[in-house]
Amino acid sequence: MLELKLDRVSKHYKQKIVADRLEYTFQKGIYGLLGENGAGKTTLLRMIAGVLRPTTGEILCNQCEIRKMGGAYRMKLGYLPQEFGYYPNFTVWRYLEYLAELKAVPPEAAGERIEKHLEQVGLSSVKTDKIKTLSGGMVRRLGIAQALLNDPEILILDEPTSGLDPKERIRFRNLLGALGRERIVLLSSHIVADIEFIADEILIMKAGKFAGTGNQKEMLKAVEGKVWECLVMPENLEGLNQKFAVSSVKNLEEGSVQVRIVSEHKPMEHAKLVPPNLEDVYLGTVEK
Ligand SMILES: Nc1ncnc2c1ncn2[C@@H]1O[C@H](COP(=O)(O)OP(=O)(O)OP(=O)(O)O)[C@@H](O)[C@H]1O
Ligand SMILES: [Mg+2]
Repeated sequence: MLELKLDRVSKHYKQKIVADRLEYTFQKGIYGLLGENGAGKTTLLRMIAGVLRPTTGEILCNQCEIRKMGGAYRMKLGYLPQEFGYYPNFTVWRYLEYLAELKAVPPEAAGERIEKHLEQVGLSSVKTDKIKTLSGGMVRRLGIAQALLNDPEILILDEPTSGLDPKERIRFRNLLGALGRERIVLLSSHIVADIEFIADEILIMKAGKFAGTGNQKEMLKAVEGKVWECLVMPENLEGLNQKFAVSSVKNLEEGSVQVRIVSEHKPMEHAKLVPPNLEDVYLGTVEK
């Protein structure tokens, strides 16, 4: 059985607490880490990837501290950093070949693996092209392919869908669905829709803490009876935004706007209770 455990993991930069005594146990499955800019997602993922050391606390893989495992941990790990470095003059193929060497993939297996992962991320047709000629979304997909090279048991993807177009997102979702069955996949995003249909478990991060964790069903239940829809005039929107967590605004043809509000109490007289979605959960959690 595979288990990755955060045991009171904190990260401080001088006085600033960026990760605050985080506790969580990951097992096989897909985990979505959601949070606003600066919530601490990248910091946490870098600590789990072993490139950043926690100020206090421990990260354990099958009960063993990951730093003590050294190379054995890195062999289990695939990591796509938020800022992903590459060599612009390398061809796609050469770059993956080079990384396969670094990751100690047996040379006789490397070619076949590269071929397979290029196919999975839809880059087979550009394998002989230089990386500098690829689009942003293609580079992102190359990043996903390199993270898969050593067939990792733990796959960490920091904002993997940024820059992907809708078709690529669907491809990515299907790919992860297949990958997540036999490993721990941890991906971050600040876009709810990117995580909504991919993750088995969701972790909402706010100011270095987990503000909410659970599967979608549990999370939706927590905001049941708290999501309201009402019609307002556009000039009242500003005031509403200050008073409530407004999760969506739709302009209607008649000149009024339909707003969705997350609130314990009925926000106004004509407000109607509606079934919650994950966006409401996220907003209700981060704006609390
Ligand atoms: N090396 C550093 N020194 C000081 N502060 C840092 C350092 N690295 C990160 N921080 C701070 O830690 C906080 C969390 O940053 P982090 O990059 O983990 O957030 P994030 O959730 O990944 O945000 P984003 O969605 O923008 O990627 C931010 O306030 C950031 O300024
Ligand atoms: Mg980040």
